[in-house]
Amino acid sequence: MAKVILAYSGGLDTSVCIPWLKENKGLDVIAFSADLGQGEELSPLKEKAVKTGAEKCIILDLRKTFVEEFIWPAVRAGAHYGGYLLATALGRPLIGRELCRIAREEGATAIAHGCTGKGNDQVRLESVAAARAPDLKVIAPLREWEMKTREEEIEYAQKRGIPVPVTKKSPYSLDVNLWGVSIEAGVLEDPMVTPPDDCYQWTTSPEKAPDEPEVVELTFAGGVPVMLNGAHEGDPLALISALNEIAGRHGVGRYDLVEDRTVGIKSREIYEAPAGFVIDMAHKGLEGLTLSKDVRAMQRVLAPRYGELVYNGFWFSDLREALDGFFKSSQARVNGRVKVQLYKGGARVIGRESDQSLYNLALASYGEEDAFDHKAAEGFIKLWTLPLRAEARARGEA
Ligand code: ARG
Repeated sequence: MAKVILAYSGGLDTSVCIPWLKENKGLDVIAFSADLGQGEELSPLKEKAVKTGAEKCIILDLRKTFVEEFIWPAVRAGAHYGGYLLATALGRPLIGRELCRIAREEGATAIAHGCTGKGNDQVRLESVAAARAPDLKVIAPLREWEMKTREEEIEYAQKRGIPVPVTKKSPYSLDVNLWGVSIEAGVLEDPMVTPPDDCYQWTTSPEKAPDEPEVVELTFAGGVPVMLNGAHEGDPLALISALNEIAGRHGVGRYDLVEDRTVGIKSREIYEAPAGFVIDMAHKGLEGLTLSKDVRAMQRVLAPRYGELVYNGFWFSDLREALDGFFKSSQARVNGRVKVQLYKGGARVIGRESDQSLYNLALASYGEEDAFDHKAAEGFIKLWTLPLRAEARARGEA
């Protein structure tokens, strides 16, 4: 029988996908689950997938790849989509890439996923297939089947003697990986409703955060953090996890956004990205010291563009590679240390230093050491304002 590789989480939707693909498409199903740092033990999925009717279940620990090949480039670029640091959006191209690779390895003719028809994730996964394996068929059972409610899916599974997830369904839809948590649905669908405390997975509410501020120090090399408080060198997973914990404890890294989905609708999403928030802020702080005015100006144009392309599923594109080229080159100078103070939901940069600093104390100082040529300013302003004088003359202001 022909084979399909299914992106499988072990939840109700993707569990029901297994018998559905066999019955409706006549395909053998190979399940695939990736560890992107969602903090869940994945090994039980092997048995579970097989019990549900899969030929087998492939589980891969992709956390290191996720950080090095996806999160760090996004950090270098300062990528965001309206403030969202793209945790979910960065994970999808990696999952999609592996789905396609496994499909080749297993000689499958199709890949399948459990995304709905109105989200961004279907676009992202299928864009990867378009870019890397355009001959593979993509099947999205949730877009095709008639079942509308959880109850119908449970009934479908029970009729086939398939174990249904016993865990009580969270009132929210969650997507978690090392870089952050995305939280939507339930009461959050009303954009005016204050997010209830129970929707947050990682962060303490600012009111309950410690009464004493805490200072963390991040060391950067080539635009990415390499040490936290002088530790975790060579272990970016540990660095991010530790910072998630520290910043989360201080209630730092909560976002409440209304965003414009790729498929044209607006949606309200809550995000938690404690480590991402602090790293992004510290990174910007260090860029102030180490990048020229012109490079920073170009960066302000390109960072949201980078975020948009990630959000819209164009990770595997010529544009992303070209932008990475710009950032790889300009970020080579972003080396040094930044101090960030965390306090009751807020974070601020309170110090930065770099061997490659462009900051010149003799030029900046108002003290005795001042070496700036004050007299040169006169001639400079004369030329700088020439066009303004011409405009004034033309308006008859002379
Ligand atoms: N809005 C985010 C994105 O498009 C997250 C989507 C998944 N969110 C969720 N809560 N399941 O990247």
